[in-house]
Amino acid sequence: MTPNDPPALSCSGITHHYPASDHEVPALHEVALSAARGRVTALVGPSGSGKSTLLRILACLERPTHGTVEVDGVDATALSARRRRELRRHRLGYVFQNPIDNLLGYLTVEEHLGLATRLRRTGPSGGELLDALGLAGRRTHHPRQLSGGEQQRVALAFAAAGDPSALLADEPTAQLDRASAHLVGAALHQLAALGHCVVVATHDPELTGVADDVHELVDGRIA
Ligand SMILES: Nc1ncnc2c1ncn2[C@@H]1O[C@H](COP(=O)(O)OP(=O)(O)O)[C@@H](O)[C@H]1O
Ligand SMILES: [Mg+2]
Repeated sequence: MTPNDPPALSCSGITHHYPASDHEVPALHEVALSAARGRVTALVGPSGSGKSTLLRILACLERPTHGTVEVDGVDATALSARRRRELRRHRLGYVFQNPIDNLLGYLTVEEHLGLATRLRRTGPSGGELLDALGLAGRRTHHPRQLSGGEQQRVALAFAAAGDPSALLADEPTAQLDRASAHLVGAALHQLAALGHCVVVATHDPELTGVADDVHELVDGRIA
């Protein structure tokens, strides 16, 4: 990485409306930000302020009404649907709020990481990620044998394996107790220390406390 490299993830001019029966619901207005490798970037703001919408747009799960998203300098909004799927698969990891939504019940922890590195066709096995996130003793366990907090840390390792450009997590601690949330915060910090670009939507102080950059959304605008 050199100072002239484009940011891992950036967006500009993001405006988004959801269609509704008789009117459109405005969710985001002219949002611009960038997120770098080696840093935890937090999106904060009250419920309904647009955090999840922005995170899904940054993760290329949703196309914005207007504006561009760049992943390692590639304009994802200009790609065909097929190329965008490929970009998501190879370059972006995503973690949902509910731990069990992130994992496959019939795969062990290490099989999840093996799957992620095969899908992304790159990177080491991911074993060092399990060590870094304090999951080394859980390699052969299935999701049902893990606590919610452990499941979320496996989900983060799954999202980070194969060295994607960025990993994004939407309120990953909302279903967790304080102790587990603290460990998830430590895991996000650790992933950034390993060089990952981490973007998280949250209002949990355990997560804003480890954030290097905080962007506040109010009514769909960066405050
Ligand atoms: N699928 C949807 N259809 C219509 N409106 C939506 C949809 N998803 C979110 N919204 C609206 O967009 C706005 C932003 O929502 P959201 O991104 O979920 O905010 P947050 O994650 O900060 O709570 C809210 O007004 C919400 O009601
Ligand atoms: Mg949300």
